[in-house]
Amino acid sequence: MSWGETAPGPVERENLNVIRRLCTVRGTVRLALLAGVVVSLSVPGTALGAEEEKPYTAVDGKVDKGTYNGYRRYHNTCHVCHGPDGLGSSFGPALVESVKQMTYGEFAEVVVNGRRSTVGGKESVMPAFAENRDVMYYLEDFWAYLKARADGALGRGRPGKLWVKEN
Ligand code: HEC
Repeated sequence: MSWGETAPGPVERENLNVIRRLCTVRGTVRLALLAGVVVSLSVPGTALGAEEEKPYTAVDGKVDKGTYNGYRRYHNTCHVCHGPDGLGSSFGPALVESVKQMTYGEFAEVVVNGRRSTVGGKESVMPAFAENRDVMYYLEDFWAYLKARADGALGRGRPGKLWVKEN
């Protein structure tokens, strides 16, 4: 079933807004990259579409696969500037705080297009990840991990795996 068939819910609307914004800003390559994100987000019954709209599942320091993937990828790609566990560094802001004030659409916008500003005469640059498939395909996993951290649902360090049974 295609995601255009039913009336859009809040998640679908947010995706539409993201796509519209990206379409006007960038070309079709980025749109194609984002398609993977949109398709997986709009499958009914995923965590994002659930009643509370939490993008993650976190229980006693253990998380779902997507959130775990977000943890791994965050520490591969973003950690160098945004610090361990999303806590910030001298190179970049604490994303654990940032995502408290952001929608997924705003988050995606910054990661796709990047951003730069000048703070006290010093240039501050967030690179654009639009061409980076390792980031674009898994954008919602980065978001899930950072939201779990921001909500206090997940502590510092490597999370456990909810889908692995311990004996
Ligand atoms: C080379 C360093 C660097 C890397 C790598 C980097 N960022 Fe950033 N990021 C920054 C800087 C610097 C800013 C602040 C930009 C500004 O001043 O506008 C920023 C800002 C952001 C913001 C906006 C925060 C806010 O409070 O508005 C988000 C969201 C973000 N980054 C996400 C990410 C994600 C996700 C990754 C990994 C995929 C990542 N960044 C990788 C340097 C980086």
